[in-house]
Amino acid sequence: PLTARINSSDRLEIGGCDVTTLVEQFGSPLYILDEDTLRNACCQYREAFKKYYPGESQVLYASKAWSCLAVCAIASQEGLGIDVVSGGELYTALQAGVSPDKLYLHGNNKSLEELKLAINSGCTIVVDNWHELRTLGHWSSVIGNSDTNDPVRIMLRLTPGIECHTHEYIRTGHLDSKFGFDPNQLDEVFAFVSQHSALNCVGLHAHIGSQIFEQQPHQDLAGVMVQWLDKASSYGLQMQELNVGGGLGIRYTEADDPPSIEAWVKGVCTAIQNACVTQQIALPKLLCEPGRSLIGSACVTAYTVGSSKTVPGIRTYIAIDGGMSDNPRPITYQSVYRAVVANKMSAPATQTVTIAGKHCESGDILIKEATLPPSEPGDILVVLATGAYNYSMASNYNRLARPAAVVVKAGEANVILRRETYQDLMRQDCLPARLSSET
Ligand code: LLP
Repeated sequence: PLTARINSSDRLEIGGCDVTTLVEQFGSPLYILDEDTLRNACCQYREAFKKYYPGESQVLYASKAWSCLAVCAIASQEGLGIDVVSGGELYTALQAGVSPDKLYLHGNNKSLEELKLAINSGCTIVVDNWHELRTLGHWSSVIGNSDTNDPVRIMLRLTPGIECHTHEYIRTGHLDSKFGFDPNQLDEVFAFVSQHSALNCVGLHAHIGSQIFEQQPHQDLAGVMVQWLDKASSYGLQMQELNVGGGLGIRYTEADDPPSIEAWVKGVCTAIQNACVTQQIALPKLLCEPGRSLIGSACVTAYTVGSSKTVPGIRTYIAIDGGMSDNPRPITYQSVYRAVVANKMSAPATQTVTIAGKHCESGDILIKEATLPPSEPGDILVVLATGAYNYSMASNYNRLARPAAVVVKAGEANVILRRETYQDLMRQDCLPARLSSET
């Protein structure tokens, strides 16, 4: 899906830009976001809903995958709303000019400050638990100083009890998940909401996990959610929105075989419509909130090859100038990535090597087995499909500065995140006078 090609110098080009030249220009490591790929994925979701869902629909970008001004702006220009999970993500989306009526705030432990920001900005709050529901139930007295006394626009997040096959850490649908209301308490929850006029509950939300390749779990979810919606109406609650979450997987390696965006959307839309016929209820406004499948394949990370070490008969390590600080997914979830050497695109891949990061940690391995052309210091190694949960989970471990990110399109590259400097790393440091060597 990347707008990539090999140019006449045998180098990788993305969005019309030579990757090796980009590194010379903007430094290394470098996140390179291909604008056309991101826009194309947004468009595929949008168009699939248009094609397969006769009711209203809205796709939200789950900005936890990568939150920054430029990405929020692109998603928003493509007509998507934004799902945010913290005051910081909400603030970023607002600064990017996203309309509050397309913003949804998630989180299993939102602070009063975050709730206040959400209420004052007019975004929808996806209520996760009793503590939050009670707080919002009398929000005007608890949260105070709001400009208006309009009811708070909320949705309720429920734990669907649907299992799916993905890494244990990123499964959220099973009943003992930390997220959402227990569906066995639906009656109590609906009764509470119906008795609180400060709450305008517009719908229900559920999310079952991430990097999912099966289609059945989301279709099962759709059926369950329509039943819940039906039940809500027996409490006099007129809910019109269903949000089935995100979770569609992407292809990191040849072994990964996710359904297309269109097939996934079609499956969900069909399941919702069938369930609505069975329950004899009107079609709700249908929302979903993908992150990975929108941005994952749209970005690569370019690194510069440095040292290497061969352990005879065992393996060769090739070290790059980044690692677990800019891509924590391999060490966290054993995620597997593929790489190419941008300055030797058609050289035969004859060497199987281990790509090591530069952190002081033996587990800091980006790729256990990469088959590449023989590489030498100065080569530009490009790790593919790093758009989702790389920059957003990046850290300054070992006081490494976070890389810059550029967006590329039609031969033009623009910085969207500046490379951190040593001064940036010290930004929050304070040296109490009594510790200063100058006194
Ligand atoms: N909605 C909710 C409520 C979520 O919790 C998530 C992801 C999404 C939507 C977006 O899911 P996606 O379409 O991206 O699968 N850091 C992990 C992934 C954590 C996902 C958390 N929630 C990783 O790097 O794989």
